[in-house]
Amino acid sequence: MSIAQEESRFSLITSEGCTLELTFLTENIVQVRYLVEESESNHFSYAIDSRFTASGDVVQTTENQISYLFQGTQICVEVNKENCGIRILNLNEEVYCEDERGFHWEEHETFGGHIVKMGKVVQEGEHYYGMGDKTMHLNLRGRRVTNWAMDVYGFKKEEDPIYKAIPFYLGVHHGRAYGIFFDNTFRSHFDFGSERRSVTSFWAEGGEMNYYFVAGPEMVDVVRRYTSLTGVPELPPMWALGYQQSKWSYSPHDKVIEVASKLREHEIPCDAIYLDIDYMHGFRCFTWDQSKFPDPADTVQQLKNRGFKTVAIVDPGIKVDPEYFVFQEGMEQNYFCRRADGPYMKGKVWPGDCYFPDFTHPRVRKWWTGLCRDFIEKTGIRGIWNDMNEPALFEIEGKTFPDDVRHDFDGNPCSHRKAHNVYGMQMVRATSKAWKKPTLNQRPLVITRSAYAGTQRYAASWTGDNIASWEHLWLATMHCQRLSVTGFSFVGTDIGGFIDHPSPELYVRWMQLATFHPFFRTHSSGDHGEQEPWSFGEEALRVSRDFIELRYRLLPYMYSVFYQYVTRFTPMIRPLSMVDQHDPDTLYRVDEFMLGDHLLLCPVLEPNARSRYVYIPRGKWLNYWTNETVEGGKEILVEAPLEQIPLFVRQGAVIPFFPVMQFVGEKSIDQLTLLVFFGGEKTVSELYEDSGDGYEYQKGVYNLKTFKTFSTEDTFKLQLKTSGHYEPTYSTYQILVKGLPFIPSKIWLNEMLISADEVFIENQSLTILAERNTFNSLRLEK
Ligand code: GLC
Repeated sequence: MSIAQEESRFSLITSEGCTLELTFLTENIVQVRYLVEESESNHFSYAIDSRFTASGDVVQTTENQISYLFQGTQICVEVNKENCGIRILNLNEEVYCEDERGFHWEEHETFGGHIVKMGKVVQEGEHYYGMGDKTMHLNLRGRRVTNWAMDVYGFKKEEDPIYKAIPFYLGVHHGRAYGIFFDNTFRSHFDFGSERRSVTSFWAEGGEMNYYFVAGPEMVDVVRRYTSLTGVPELPPMWALGYQQSKWSYSPHDKVIEVASKLREHEIPCDAIYLDIDYMHGFRCFTWDQSKFPDPADTVQQLKNRGFKTVAIVDPGIKVDPEYFVFQEGMEQNYFCRRADGPYMKGKVWPGDCYFPDFTHPRVRKWWTGLCRDFIEKTGIRGIWNDMNEPALFEIEGKTFPDDVRHDFDGNPCSHRKAHNVYGMQMVRATSKAWKKPTLNQRPLVITRSAYAGTQRYAASWTGDNIASWEHLWLATMHCQRLSVTGFSFVGTDIGGFIDHPSPELYVRWMQLATFHPFFRTHSSGDHGEQEPWSFGEEALRVSRDFIELRYRLLPYMYSVFYQYVTRFTPMIRPLSMVDQHDPDTLYRVDEFMLGDHLLLCPVLEPNARSRYVYIPRGKWLNYWTNETVEGGKEILVEAPLEQIPLFVRQGAVIPFFPVMQFVGEKSIDQLTLLVFFGGEKTVSELYEDSGDGYEYQKGVYNLKTFKTFSTEDTFKLQLKTSGHYEPTYSTYQILVKGLPFIPSKIWLNEMLISADEVFIENQSLTILAERNTFNSLRLEK
């Protein structure tokens, strides 16, 4: 074996002609690549974010009789001289992960291509998480999954694969977590000790064995590092975090306006209305059915007048119709995918026979971006919903393109076997670019059903065609957590279920869960009944409204959590295993999750339940509804009448609340409420604020406010530090300290002793008003 070094990259060439390439991209990420004779010379990845900077690492190379050692700042890679097997260790020489049989390459009998395979030892007590779009328990130990984007209408629990393909997993053992991202777009498989209990293996039906090892030891850091590699979206417009109402389909124009008016009549806050495929002329993308929408710009304007943004669906299939301008342009410019022997790839979707743009070609993406931009500019729509982009077909076996279909793959021509999993990603990439026009000055909302690793850079996502069942409510909480630990935080589900009709109770419970999911939309197929919040009777309407209102109050919190995601790569939703991986009781929990640093949720997942068991992670928490303090590290029974779901707040947290609005920007906010939860030695909270849309924030026009609280038995202190120079509309803070165990005899506002008349105390809560311009601290003493 010989070794060559080029900065932080080491190439080990074996006597069999295989090269193992180790690249220390950062202190915590090592890229591991195996090059064989057949490997492509041009290494190209759609997943890795171009903004990711490989800072490299200082690596000491040593050797002993059996291995070469590459000692970086945080991790050590040991390569066995005899079989090239590798072990990855931390600085204490403890194993993160090690090869079992290691790399394997073999010709693929069916395709005449090849497979690449990697085998790792299952460590004692190891658990596995991640993989994005999987329908089984969060903990993947003992499971096998496949990555191949598929349209699965009414997917079932355990069904695999479905819409997205994200080949990234986390392993945790002995309190140490690491991640492996297998950046291979071919159909791939992961076996987590299912076939052989002691082996975790992953393999793909083509391409390279090219994976990124991401060190922890904390799970949340593994996800953050993986997300730094594959990227984050830009900050969405704040309205995109509001409630959204959709159906297949609100049509014609009058129906759309009626739904919008009813939302306002019933005082259901809502920011967006979706138009599903029936707005189009015979399902032709970028067209309107003139009989239903005679003046689309007017429909959009009328919605705008009522405070709604319009989001329209756009699918990839382009109707074969010589009279249709998109078809004509695509034909003239040779933009459609072709079979290996030359003819166009023809398949049936909504419009009947379609051709499909090759979104992996940069020229095609540019064209598509232009089509989207024209569409936006002509009509004033504010978001595009890309569906069926697995790509999905109705009638062909396999429900997608045949394997031989050709793609450009950005100048690396290949078959559909390689391009399939990135097709949807490249479509939303082109779509989201439509907003990149300075005069538009709008942040985009693009949503996608299909995805590969890195797609989170371009779009939000929903989990596809779910069912109105209690099982699917469980899937909803699991699914969003799983996507979030796989780098995809801006996710949600079709509230109430897409297929079938939920009972009022199921709809309410779903709404309560979705209130805490970043993407917050009711959508349904419409075949089975109405699914607007008023369709389920008075009680369901009232409780749904209460929760949608709670979401609008929470907007500044949600927005700040989003800010943490896009600037520090921190997943917005965190499963309990990630909240406290050192507590073995969290490793099998699925129902509970955290939103951001401070809110702990647990949906009610059964009919008629009016209480449920909730595992509270270690630390102290306040029950949001009762202000009761709870000591975590155990499971407790929590009251959950239909009006409430178990919601806990970390002691010491400061949660900013907006007043209720019917839509973002409805009124200028003149007071910001700070809900402060007593307790904790020192707790840090953040509030990010900017204008909520446009790009001024990128020029520094934003504020980052850091709150610190300090509590003892008989004192309490809140401090605020602001950086930035955004001028919010509100002039006062209403500070509400909850769960106060004493009646303060002395109160200092901004270090000045004030009289007790200036505060209001009731039920262990203290309320005080403070000027925004001057407020920097509040101190209470018993
Ligand atoms: C697909 C989508 C669904 C949409 C329907 C019609 O089934 O998943 O959300 O409503 O197509 O466009």
